[in-house]
Amino acid sequence: MRNWEELEQMCNQCHRCQLCQTRNNVVFGVGPKNADIMFIGEGPGEQEDFKGEPFVGAAGKLLDDMLSIIDLGRHNCYIANIVKCRPPGNRDPKDEEQDACIDYLRNQVSLIQPKIIICLGRVAAKRIIDPDFRITREHGTWYCKSGIWMTALYHPSALLRDLSKRPDTFEDLLEIRKKIREVHADI
Ligand code: URA
Repeated sequence: MRNWEELEQMCNQCHRCQLCQTRNNVVFGVGPKNADIMFIGEGPGEQEDFKGEPFVGAAGKLLDDMLSIIDLGRHNCYIANIVKCRPPGNRDPKDEEQDACIDYLRNQVSLIQPKIIICLGRVAAKRIIDPDFRITREHGTWYCKSGIWMTALYHPSALLRDLSKRPDTFEDLLEIRKKIREVHADI
């Protein structure tokens, strides 16, 4: 396992997959390095690639609104993605790209030791919770793996496209609030 400095340097110089050829910036992750709550998205979009920061585009704005409903924000949770470089045209990251990148995220999780991980969307839920995860059926369901509570929400981009998913997400957010209290997560 690498320390933060080594890990960030490795990511910034990474050539493990083809996404390095088209990236402007590696999107490492942001937030307190001892956060009890971690959000994991899919991969950087155009804005994120330009800024080197996760969830700064339209989906990020909605994510900020979602977080504020339950007293969360960038000051009290860590936000990262399954892949750290933008898949061109915002396509899903390929399996081999996820495979190349996932150890960096694992290293981040080991350093942070979060109490709760919230996957944003299908790609993250499949990779982190269960390869057979069905987001429409299983969003908001809780799993405990290696002592970490995990759940998934619809991806904010899906919530921008489909307003009918928002009431379910509101309920899921309230359950996250409950879980935060239950496990005495610091926020
Ligand atoms: N979508 C994601 O999954 N991650 C980001 O950082 C931005 C958009």
